[in-house]
Amino acid sequence: MTAVPIIDVRGVTKRFPLRRGVVERLRGGRPLAVHALREVDFSVRRGETFALVGESGCGKSTLARIVMGLIPPSGGSVAFDGQPVEGLSRADTLRFRRRIQMVFQNPFGSLNPRMRVGRIVGEPLHVHRAGLGLGPGGLRARVAEVLRDCGLDPTTAERFPHQFSGGQRQRIAIARALAVEPECLVLDEPVSALDVSIQAQIVNLLTEQQRQHGLTYLFISHDLSLVRCFADRVAVMYFGRICELGPVGSVLDRPHHHYTSGLLRAVPDIKARSKRPAVVGGELPNPVHPPAGCAFHTRCPAATSRCRSEVPPLTAAPDGRLVACHHPLRS
Ligand SMILES: Nc1ncnc2c1ncn2[C@@H]1O[C@H](COP(=O)(O)OP(=O)(O)OP(=O)(O)O)[C@@H](O)[C@H]1O
Ligand code: SF4
Ligand SMILES: [Mg+2]
Repeated sequence: MTAVPIIDVRGVTKRFPLRRGVVERLRGGRPLAVHALREVDFSVRRGETFALVGESGCGKSTLARIVMGLIPPSGGSVAFDGQPVEGLSRADTLRFRRRIQMVFQNPFGSLNPRMRVGRIVGEPLHVHRAGLGLGPGGLRARVAEVLRDCGLDPTTAERFPHQFSGGQRQRIAIARALAVEPECLVLDEPVSALDVSIQAQIVNLLTEQQRQHGLTYLFISHDLSLVRCFADRVAVMYFGRICELGPVGSVLDRPHHHYTSGLLRAVPDIKARSKRPAVVGGELPNPVHPPAGCAFHTRCPAATSRCRSEVPPLTAAPDGRLVACHHPLRS
């Protein structure tokens, strides 16, 4: 029997409608929209670290927000542990929000500067106190415990976020996410705002917490070297679609998709940590007017006329990984 994936994303599409200009209104044309995600399919297994990588604007954060139930998809569906995320009752929404938590890229923007750390970490505990069976004493004890787990002194609770460095603030953000004992964390570029020397400490903290609590991570990053050492499987995204998905080692060592290969070529040394995202030559297409066929055809050295007219479906290669390309690279 196959285990139910903890996150199951099926055919997810997201369009952000643009306000129509006067000319379009007068012409009565179709409303314009940014096509942020198109028919995205993937599932995350319980206990694994599943990475999403791709250039800026390819839809990673939009996908994360849809998985978290923060915004609805325009089409398709997301299930968490077999249960659809959309249309949950109030009680089920509360339960779902306890089971999955998010950590954002910027620890300066994501912590309220006017709140003491104890209140920041304690707030989700207060919201979920009934589910966790916590009284006021228990709540304070849990704040102290989770701060300690995240490498912070419990006296941190009395201070304000601006009194801490970027790395310590990200520890506070992780403590806030872990306080309610979730099963899954969505980590949206959790270390890319930090100095390279601090990144490893935060990654070690996340690894240790995963080991202790059996957590599942959906990990968004542009840093392929970090993905290689931290994730189990990776989905490479281009222009709102997944173009390649499989175990980290095989995808990054022997890419089948031309975009993955381009990303890897753009990283001078995959073993070196970099704050700069890898950039492939050529420009991203216009998300309001996506090109026909494979969206990468405008930048792909192997593009043919078929690529310009037919969208390549995500299909299983002989080695089991999924690739969306009419003329994949062979390893
Ligand atoms: N609220 C919004 N309204 C309109 N367009 C949006 C909105 N949010 C995202 N977009 C657009 O959707 C596309 C995907 O954006 P998204 O933020 O998901 O990309 P990303 O992969 O997370 O990029 P980055 O690596 O820069 O964080 C982009 O074209 C972006 O401009
Ligand atoms: S489908 Fe065509 S354009 Fe797209 S990556 Fe493959 S070869 Fe290149
Ligand atoms: Mg983003």
